[in-house]
Amino acid sequence: MTFTLKKSWSDALVLGLSVFLVFCLIFEPYIELPELVGWLGNWHPLILHFPIVLLVVAVYVNLVHKKISSLLLTIATLTVLITAITGFFLSLGSSEKGDILFWHQWLGAGLALLTALWYWLDNQKLGQHKVTKGLQLSIVLTTVLAGHFGGMVTHGEDFLALPSSNSFEEIPENPLIYKHIVASIIDDKCASCHNPNKQKGEYSMSSLKNLIKGGKTGKAIDKEHPKESELLKRLHLPNADEEHMPPQEKKQLTSIEIQLIEEWVRLGASDTLQLNQLKNDQPLVALVNNLMRPDAKEKWTKLPKVDKTILSGLNSDYLTIKKLASTSEALSINLFTSPKYEATLITNLAPIAQNIITLDLSGIPIGAKEMEFIAKCINLEILEIDKTPVTDRDIIPIKSLSKLRSLKVYDTKVSDESIDLFKGLSSLEKLYVKGSAISAEGISSLQKERPSLVVIGDIDAEIKTYFIEKDTVEITTKKEAISPK
Ligand code: HEC
Repeated sequence: MTFTLKKSWSDALVLGLSVFLVFCLIFEPYIELPELVGWLGNWHPLILHFPIVLLVVAVYVNLVHKKISSLLLTIATLTVLITAITGFFLSLGSSEKGDILFWHQWLGAGLALLTALWYWLDNQKLGQHKVTKGLQLSIVLTTVLAGHFGGMVTHGEDFLALPSSNSFEEIPENPLIYKHIVASIIDDKCASCHNPNKQKGEYSMSSLKNLIKGGKTGKAIDKEHPKESELLKRLHLPNADEEHMPPQEKKQLTSIEIQLIEEWVRLGASDTLQLNQLKNDQPLVALVNNLMRPDAKEKWTKLPKVDKTILSGLNSDYLTIKKLASTSEALSINLFTSPKYEATLITNLAPIAQNIITLDLSGIPIGAKEMEFIAKCINLEILEIDKTPVTDRDIIPIKSLSKLRSLKVYDTKVSDESIDLFKGLSSLEKLYVKGSAISAEGISSLQKERPSLVVIGDIDAEIKTYFIEKDTVEITTKKEAISPK
C-alpha cells in the first residue's frame, strides 16, 4: 500500500520535472531568472556526478539481472532531471552560448528525457523489451557524449571564465566599419541578450542580416529612413526608459559608440564599407580614429589649437590633413607624389608643425629642407620617409623627435651610419629598414642595444605580410580603453 503511494509520488515528480525541462527548453529566450533560482544553477557541476554513476549502474544491473530495482531507476531518473534543469539555470547566466555549450545542453536535456522514457517504459513492465534495450544503449552513449561536451565547457571553452576584457578585436589600420567596429560594439554590449540562443524581443543580432531584420517589432534598421530605425531610437531613449537599450543595469554604450553606429546606419548599414572609402570630412572618420586612439585624449590635450583658416589654406590636391580624433588637435598628414612637387608644400606646414602626429612622405623626393622641417614636428609619432632619396646626413635632424614610435626608411640610402641615431630615439618601437643600405650587422647591433625595438629588415615575402599585419597593430587598441570611465 505504502509502496503504491510512493510510486505515484515519484511518477508525478518525474512527469512534473520532465514537463518543466521541456518548458524551459522551448521558452528559453523568454526566461529571466530570479537571482535565487539562478543560484541553483551553481549546484549543477556538483550533482551531475550522481546521475552519471547511477545511470551506468542502472543500465548494467538491468543487462545482467534482467530486472532493475525500481528505487534505483527512480533515483537515477530524478537526479538526471534535476541535473539537466540546474544545468539549464546555469547556462542562462552565461552571456553567450558557444557551440559546445549548445551541444552539451541538448545532449544533457536529451539524456534526462530518455531516462524519463525508460522510467515510464519500466512502469509499463516493458523493462526487457527490445525498445528498452535500445534506449538503454542510447542512454549510455548520450551520457558519455554529454559528459564529454560538459568537460569541454568547463575545461576548454570560455564558459565560466571571467568576462574577457579585450573582446574588442584589435582594429586594423583600414577597418571594415561593420565587421571591426559595429559588430564589436554589439558583441560587447548587446549580444548577451540578442544571440541565436537567447533572442530577447525575438531579436538576434548575430549577423548583419538579422541585425537589420529586427525582432518582434519588425525592422531594426531602416535604410530608407535611417533616423527612424528602431535600433537607433532605443539607443537614444533616456536610460531610465524601459525600452532603452541596453537595459539600464547593463554596461552602456559610450557616446562615441552610439555616434559610430548611427553614422554607419546613415551611410547605408553595409558590411563592405571601409574606412578608406570615406571622405575625410565624414564624421565617421574622426569617430573611428578616436576609437583607434583612445589614449589620444590624455596624450594630445596639450596640443596648440589649430586655426581653421590656416588649415583650409594648407589643403591641396597633393596633401591631405586629417584630424586624428574629434576631441583633439592632433593631425595626420599624407602627401602624394606630384609632378610639380616643391619643398614649400611641406615647409608651409610650419604653423601646424606641433600638431602633426603622423606624417606620410612616402615616395616624395624630399631632401634636407624637408627634414629640417620634420625636426620641428616635436610631437611626431609616426614618420614614413620610405622610398625617398634621403641619406644618413639628411635624416640627422630627426634625432630630436622624442615621441617618434614608428619610422619607415625602407628603400632609401640610409645606412649603418644612422644606427647610432636610431639607438638614440628613445620612443622608437618600430623601424622599417628593408631595402635600405643598412646591413644585418647594423640591425643586430641596434637590437642588442634596444631589444624591445622591432626592426623589420630583409625578410621574405611570407613573413613580410605577417609584419604588415603586425604593423597595423601599432595604432590599434583594446576595448577597455573606450569603455565609459
Ligand atoms: C540584458 C539584456 C539585453 C541587452 C544587453 C540588450 N537588450 Fe535589447 N532587448 C532586451 C529585451 C528584454 C528586449 C525585449 C523587450 C523590449 O522590447 O524592450 C529587447 C529588445 C530590443 C529591441 C527591439 C526588438 C523588437 O523588434 O522588439 C532592440 C532594437 C534592441 N533590444 C536593441 C538592443 C541593442 C542595440 C543592444 C545593445 C546596445 C541591446 N538591445 C542590448 C534585452 C537586452
